[in-house]
Amino acid sequence: MTSSAQIEKRIVLRNYGKIDPNSIDDYVKAGGYSALKRAVTQMQPAEIIKTVKDSGLRGRGGAGFPTGLKWEFAAKAQGSPKYIICNADEGEPGTYKDRLILEGDPHSVIEGMAIAARAIGASKGFFYIRGEYVKPIEMVKKAIEQARAAGFLGKRIAGSDFEFDIEVRSGAGAYVCGEETALMESIEGKRGESRVKPPYPTDEGLWGKPTVINNVETLANIAPIIENGAEWFRAIGTPKCTGTKVFTLSGDVVNKGAFEVPMGTTLRTLVFELGGGIPNGKEFLMAQVGGSAGGCLPASLLDVRLDLESLREVDGSLGSGALLIVDDSRSVLDVVRSCMKFFEHESCGKCTLCREGTARLARLVDKIAEGQANTEDLKLLERLSRIMERTCLCGLGQAAPKPILTTLKYFKDEYLIRVSDQATPKGA
Ligand SMILES: Cc1cc2nc3c(=O)[nH]c(=O)nc-3n(C[C@H](O)[C@H](O)[C@H](O)COP(=O)(O)O)c2cc1C
Ligand code: SF4
Repeated sequence: MTSSAQIEKRIVLRNYGKIDPNSIDDYVKAGGYSALKRAVTQMQPAEIIKTVKDSGLRGRGGAGFPTGLKWEFAAKAQGSPKYIICNADEGEPGTYKDRLILEGDPHSVIEGMAIAARAIGASKGFFYIRGEYVKPIEMVKKAIEQARAAGFLGKRIAGSDFEFDIEVRSGAGAYVCGEETALMESIEGKRGESRVKPPYPTDEGLWGKPTVINNVETLANIAPIIENGAEWFRAIGTPKCTGTKVFTLSGDVVNKGAFEVPMGTTLRTLVFELGGGIPNGKEFLMAQVGGSAGGCLPASLLDVRLDLESLREVDGSLGSGALLIVDDSRSVLDVVRSCMKFFEHESCGKCTLCREGTARLARLVDKIAEGQANTEDLKLLERLSRIMERTCLCGLGQAAPKPILTTLKYFKDEYLIRVSDQATPKGA
C-alpha cells in the first residue's frame, strides 16, 4: 500500500501545521509575500492574468470556472472601482477545508487576494466569512492588521504605487449566501437572495461594479502559481483539471479529516488508503461527493477519478470536495431525506420552483421512505427533480435534486421496495 505522504500533494496546505498562523514573520520566512512582491514590482497585470490562465486553475468553490478567465473579464470590464471578494461562507454540509486553510495559513489567502486585486485593478477587497467561524474571523482580522503593518496591504504596497486593502464581513449562516450573487446582496446589507444572471459579477457585481469572487482554496493557490510558474502547476492533476484539491472526509470512515491530493485521484484512494476504509467491520455502501448538493456514488464507482470531468460523466459533481462516506448498515433513503430537509430549510424563497419544489421533494421522499407512496409518486419525484434542475434560478435549486436523481440511478431498488404497489418496505 502507498503511504499517505506519497499520495498527498500539498500546495494549498503547504504551511499547515508547519508555521504559526498568527505570525506574519513565520509566513514570510516560509517564502510568503514574495509572490506578491514579484506581482507588484516585476509583472504587469496582463502577465499575472496570463500566468493564472496558463496554469489551468479552476475555481474550487464548486462551479470550476477558469480563474484566469474570470480575472480577465473583470480587468477588461468598464466601471470603477473594482472589487475582489474572498468567499469563505462555506455552508456546504461536510465541508470544512476553507476553515482549515484560514486557521492554518490566513496570509496565504490574503496574498492571493492582493495578487488578484493587482491583476484586475481593484483597490478594495472583502472577506466574506460565515458568522459561525468565530476563530477564523479573528485570525483573518489579525492577519490583515499584520499585513498592513508590514506594507503588504494599504498604500504603496512593496514600495510600488499599488494600493489595496481588505475589510471583513460575516454572514449570518444562510447557505444561499455562499452563492456569489446572494453573497453580494448580503454585503450590500440586503436580504440574501440570488440575483438573475447575466449580468455576471465581473461586469456588474458589488454595488453594480466589476467584481471577482473567488473561493478561499482558489486564492490560496495563487502565490505558489506566481512563484513556480504555470507549467509547474499544469504538471499536477489532469490535463483539464490541473493542480490539487482538498477533500474533507466524514461519516463512516476510519480517518476523518482533510486530505490534499492531485486532481484525478480516485475515490477508492481517498476512502481506503487515506481514509483507512470503513470501520466496525462494515462495508462501503456509497459516497456522497460534493456535499448535500452532490451525487451519491455506489461501490461500483469507487475507481472514479475525482475531478470535474470524470465526476460529470457519472452524473456526479466535484462541488466543494466534501466526501460523506456511508456504510451498509444505513439506509440510502435516510441520507436523501436529510439532504431534502436541508434544502427545504435553506431555499431563499425567491423563485417558486425552488421554494415550493424543495418542500414537495422533501414530502415525497418522506412518503417513500415511510412506505406510504405508490409508483405515481416515484414518477412525480423524478419529473419534478428534472424540472427543478433545468429551471430554478440559482445553483441551490438546480442542485437540490442531485441526491435524488443519483440514488434513483444507482440505488433504484431502495425506492422500489418501498412503494406500496411493490414489495413490503425494508425493515417492516
Ligand atoms: C447555494 C450555493 C452555495 C455556495 N456556497 C459557496 C461557498 O460557501 N463558498 C464558495 O466559495 N462558493 C460557494 N458557491 C459557489 C459560488 O457561487 C461561486 O461560484 C464561487 O465562490 C466562485 O469562486 P471560485 O471561482 O473560486 O470557485 C455556492 C454556490 C451555490 C449555488
Ligand atoms: S433557486 Fe432557490 S435559493 Fe436560488 S433563487 Fe430560487 S428560491 Fe432562492
